[in-house]
Parts: sequence; structure tokens; C-alpha cells
Amino acid sequence: MASFISTLLFLFLMGGASPAGGQSSELTEPMCYDWGESSEAGVSVLEGESGWLSCPLFSHPSVYNYTSTQSAGHTLFWYRLLQGQDLEEPITSSSRLSKDRERLWLQPATSDDTGQYICMLRNKSSCSKIAMRLTVLRPDQVVRGVDCEPPVAVAATSEYIGLQGGKRLDCPDLQDAAKMADGEPTVTWYHVRRELSMCRQYPFWNNERQQNGASLRFYVMLDSYQGLYFCTVHYQRRGKTLNFTRSINVTAIYPPTVPKYPSILRPPKDLVSTVKPGSKVRLNCTGHFPIIRPDAVPEIWWTVDGKTLDKLADQRFSQTTRQVDYDRGDRFIENVLLIQDFQSEDLNKEFNCSVKNERGFETRRVQLREDVWLPSVELGCGLGVTLLLMLLLFVVYHVFWLELLLLYRSWFGTDERHTDDKEYDVYISYARNSEEEQFVLSTLRRVLENELGYSVCIFDRDSLPGGTITDETLSFVARSRRLLVVVSPGYASQGSQALLELKAGIDGMALGGHLRVILVQYKPVQRHSWVRELRRARVALALVRWQGDKSRELTSRFWKRLRVELPVRRVGREEEEEEEEGGNKEAVLMRLHSQNSTNSQTGLISNTVKDPQKVLNCAS
Ligand SMILES: *[C@@H]1O[C@H](CO)[C@@H](O)[C@H](O)[C@H]1NC(C)=O
Ligand SMILES: *[C@@H]1O[C@H](CO)[C@@H](O)[C@H](O)[C@H]1NC(C)=O
Ligand SMILES: *[C@@H]1O[C@H](CO)[C@@H](O)[C@H](O)[C@H]1NC(C)=O
Ligand SMILES: *[C@@H]1O[C@H](CO)[C@@H](O)[C@H](O)[C@H]1NC(C)=O
Ligand SMILES: *[C@@H]1O[C@H](CO)[C@@H](O)[C@H](O)[C@H]1NC(C)=O
Ligand SMILES: *[C@@H]1O[C@H](CO)[C@@H](O)[C@H](O)[C@H]1NC(C)=O
Repeated sequence: MASFISTLLFLFLMGGASPAGGQSSELTEPMCYDWGESSEAGVSVLEGESGWLSCPLFSHPSVYNYTSTQSAGHTLFWYRLLQGQDLEEPITSSSRLSKDRERLWLQPATSDDTGQYICMLRNKSSCSKIAMRLTVLRPDQVVRGVDCEPPVAVAATSEYIGLQGGKRLDCPDLQDAAKMADGEPTVTWYHVRRELSMCRQYPFWNNERQQNGASLRFYVMLDSYQGLYFCTVHYQRRGKTLNFTRSINVTAIYPPTVPKYPSILRPPKDLVSTVKPGSKVRLNCTGHFPIIRPDAVPEIWWTVDGKTLDKLADQRFSQTTRQVDYDRGDRFIENVLLIQDFQSEDLNKEFNCSVKNERGFETRRVQLREDVWLPSVELGCGLGVTLLLMLLLFVVYHVFWLELLLLYRSWFGTDERHTDDKEYDVYISYARNSEEEQFVLSTLRRVLENELGYSVCIFDRDSLPGGTITDETLSFVARSRRLLVVVSPGYASQGSQALLELKAGIDGMALGGHLRVILVQYKPVQRHSWVRELRRARVALALVRWQGDKSRELTSRFWKRLRVELPVRRVGREEEEEEEEGGNKEAVLMRLHSQNSTNSQTGLISNTVKDPQKVLNCAS
């Protein structure tokens, strides 16, 4: 409005010198009714092509009808608002810019034409105006699907052709050009397709598609003929050659000969759905709508007890519709009825899904049944957690079973020293003069005695020269709680000390003499090289393997496993107990006795084994 006033003011100040002369007399005219800028009337034209602006006042003929306004003495004026200025410049007709009824033609358009245009309808007593925008595009400003497509400033129109069917396509806007042309316009048609990454431009029409005069005729429509078709209209006007190009999106659809009744695909006819009262319930319905006309609106809706949701007016019910599939014009539409807080009495309601198009109607009731409460989720969760816990325990047990066992023993195990009258915790039996000897004397024995606090007995004799040795061996074994057998290839060869010890141990175990045999393997030994007694015993006995350097630490698996097999001994607390028992006569006597007995038999208490021939090395 302000701009118009300023224009008038400008014209007034300029006096009669304005290009649109004679306007000064109209200053007394009533103010013009301004409709603002019409957004939908915006026009794009390709640079160099011909195009037009159509005054949007006449887009609603019930309001403004061009024919009737002419008869009421109205005149249509065109103005142009210069870029960045408030000045409305009247447009003077030329051979390039011309008025034709409600249109302003640009033949051709130039890039300078871009801007806002105003059309004003006016008679002596009334005036209306409306603005619109014109954009003149350079070819490189046009968005194209494939680069070899020609640039088109106007959106493609759509055409639908039934498969195997025929149709005549006319170039859009051809009739408008024909009115402006001096002679008959000519049209060229082409179809652009990308084939094997190569852009191909038809026409090489065949007897299924042909150009027929200005039109393109389809005789037999195929799927492969779908896509964008382009037509360029050429015409002559006042000695100028003009053109414009339009595009048509051709889509194949099912022909009209196939049945067009709508149908309900889902739910199936006799399906009974289970619902849970108190929860959100979704009822799904999918309808198939065969194509009749491309713009036909398919209808799919739910009714509750015969009432549409609008009539029902219950906040708990709502429906949402969406297209789930599209096939050559046929549409598959889903409508989901959402029921908030489903009530038990809703079970008795009649839920119907209905579909409808121009040709028919179908309705189907969904059968609902109350869901028998199965705590499937809760049960599943509980079971899952239980299984997980069991798995965890299983893993923990497998990784830490030795530690757990030792812990258990340290809490609940009974100290065998209080229940038997044995002198030694461990009697070590091994093959003399072997690789294992060093291991037994320097490692096993040191750790067992010094670090773990066991009393260890090692009877050092290679052979059995006399009966007394045999008796002594048996007696020492019998007075030990464990017989620790260090298995080696030459262990327990016939007639050796070790064989005697092994037999004594196995017999002692068999007779229930509070003796247990433990097998320790220093180096891997072939099973078949074992003596028969050992092989038999292995079935029932634990075998603790020395793992080289890995086993040196007291915290290693080797020592843990060995401790599990050995009598319960609480390291650390042991000393305190012994301190306490310091005054206990009995204990002192016991210890004296055991020392005495050792002394009496060997006359020696020695930790160092310098002479394996002669040393009987049992110390408490
Ligand atoms: C405009 O009015 C004329 C007569 O006044 C009428 O014949 C014509 O159909 C009208 N046009 C439209 C588009 O309504
Ligand atoms: C101007 O147009 C209006 C209708 O738009 C009409 O009523 C009026 O009579 C016209 N005035 C003249 C002077 O023709
Ligand atoms: C249309 O006309 C313009 C200007 O004369 C020309 O540059 C262009 O190539 C023509 N387009 C076609 C498709 O003939
Ligand atoms: C042509 O129309 C079909 C279906 O109507 C659509 O899927 C396709 O995107 C359109 N193609 C172009 C280039 O507009
Ligand atoms: C309907 O479909 C939704 C998912 O799309 C599903 O969650 C729901 O359970 C379905 N309802 C029935 C009654 O089948
Ligand atoms: C609901 O559908 C059934 C068929 O499943 C039909 O017999 C019944 O008449 C329909 N009810 C309404 C109200 O349309």
C-alpha cells in the first residue's frame, strides 16, 4: 500500500513527465485494495524461452472473472517492482513484453526480468492489485534428475497409462503458444533414459510409441516406457523464433479391464486377536485399492458398534492412516485403530474396518478375545536372570574353585592333628638319583616345611638292604597323613625304596588308615612307563602338575592344588595357637616324643642331605 502511495506521490512530483502519462488526473481515485503477494502464483521461466505471468486475481473466477470485469469497465495494468527499490514501474507493451487478456507474455524471457510483478484491476470507482514473483532461471540453475535431461523450468505434469493400453499425450501449454504464434507451432518429443550408465535420448519410436503430428501416441504401454518425456514447442511470432520445453512423468498403471473393487487384506476373515485389558491395543487394517483414477481418494476407516470415531467422540479411540505400498497405481493403505486403556467391556463392542472406492465397499469385523494372563515377560526375565546367575557361578567356580576350596577348608576344615596321632603331615616318595631329587629336596620340602608349616618326612635310601629298613619305611609311611609321590619315568622300579613306599601308601589308603596318596608330576611322564601300581592308583588319585617357572610362586595353581590335597593348616594363626599352647604339657610332650622317636631311630635330625646313602631325614 505504502509503495503505491509513494508511486503516486512520485508521479505527482514528477508532474506530467511520467512515462505513464495522464495518471495525475487519477490521483483523486479511491485507494487500491492490495491483496499482497500471491505465493502460489510464482512463476519460473527458463532464460531464452517464452513464458507468461497470469494475474492471480483471476485464479478465483467467482471473485474476479476477466470477461465480466471487462464489461464493468475495468482495465488491467501491469507494474514491475524493481529489485531493491520501492518503485512500481508501469510495464509498457513491446514485442517482447505483451499483454493478452489476464496474461503478461515474455517472448522470450531474459535474466533481467526476474523480480516482483503487480497486476492492478481498476475502473473509475474501484481498484484491486496483487503481486507475484517471476524467476528467470539459467539452464544450470535447473535441478535435473539426469544430466542429459534438458532443463525445464516448470514442474513435470503426470500421465498415467494402463499397461498394454494406449493414450495420446499433448505437450502442456501448446494451446497457449498456438494463440500467440503466427503460424502453426511445431513440437519435438523425446524420452531420456539412463541405460547401462549411458544417457540415451529417444526418439527412435516404433509401432508402440510414435509421434503423431504435435502429439506423442502410445499404442502399447509397457513398464519400460515409464519415465520423463520432454516436448519442445517451437513457434514463429513477428519474425522471431520462440520455444519452450515441458516434461511429462509417464507412469504405467493396471489397465481399467482388471477388477477395481477394494478389498481388506488384513486382518484375515476369521482371525481372532487377543487383547490385554488395561493396556494400549492396536488394531491393524490394510486395504487394497486398485487404481481407477490417479486422483481418486481411497477411503478406509474404523467403526465401533457401527459408529465412526467422529460420531463416537471417545478420547480413547484414535486412528492413523498411511500408505504402505504402491504398485502400478494400486495403493495399499493401512489404518491402525489405537485404543488407549482397553476395558473388558470393549470386548463386546463390534470393531469393523471398512474400505470403499467408486466401485465398491467391504467391511470386516475383528474378533477380540481376552488374553489369558501369562506372565511370559516376567517369567522370561526371572529365568534369564537365574540362568545368568548360574552361568556366573559356574564361571566363578571354574576360575576360582581352588581359592574357594581353600577358603572353605580354612573355615570349616578340621585339623587332622587333633583327630589322629600321626607324626608327619607329608611323606615324600620319589625316585632317587633322578632329576626330581633336586626338586624334592630344595623346592618341595623347603616350601612345605618353611612356608606352609608342614612336618615332612623323607626316607633317604636307594635300595633295600635289609628287613629293618623295610619295616622302618612302612612305619614312617604309616605315621604320615599324606604320601606325596613325585612321579618320574624311573619311579618305583622293581625293588626300589620308592616302590615300597608306594605300596605302603596304597595299602594304607585301602585299609582306611587315615593316609592319602597324592601324585605330583615334576615333568611330563608317559603313562605307559609307570609301574602297574601307579597306573592303577592314578585312577583314584589327584595328580598335581608342576608347571615350571609358573609354579614357583606360592600363589600359583600348583601350590594351591597341593594345599587342597594336604591337611588343613592355618598359616599365620598356627603360630599364635602354638604360642598359646606353649604351656600345654601334653603338646610339649607330644613334640618331644616325636623328636625322640626320630632321634632314636636315626640319631640325626638334619635338613641338609649330603649323603643320600645313609640319611633318614624325617623332622617334625
Ligand atoms: C465469467 O463471466 C462470464 C459472463 O459474465 C461467463 O460466461 C463465464 O463463464 C465466466 N467465467 C468463469 C470462469 O466463471
Ligand atoms: C467499477 O466496478 C464495480 C465492480 O467491481 C462496479 O460496481 C462499478 O459500477 C464500476 N464503476 C464504474 C464507474 O464503471
Ligand atoms: C530455444 O530458443 C533459444 C533462444 O532462441 C535457443 O537458445 C534454444 O536452443 C532453443 N531451444 C530448443 C530446444 O530449441
Ligand atoms: C513420476 O511419478 C512416479 C509415480 O507417480 C513417481 O514415483 C516418480 O518419482 C515421478 N518421477 C519424477 C521424475 O517426477
Ligand atoms: C498392529 O501392528 C503393530 C505394528 O505395526 C503391532 O505392534 C500390533 O501388535 C498389531 N496389532 C494387532 C492386533 O495385530
Ligand atoms: C461388521 O462386519 C461384519 C462382517 O465381518 C458385518 O456382518 C457387520 O454387519 C458389520 N457391522 C457394521 C456395523 O458394519
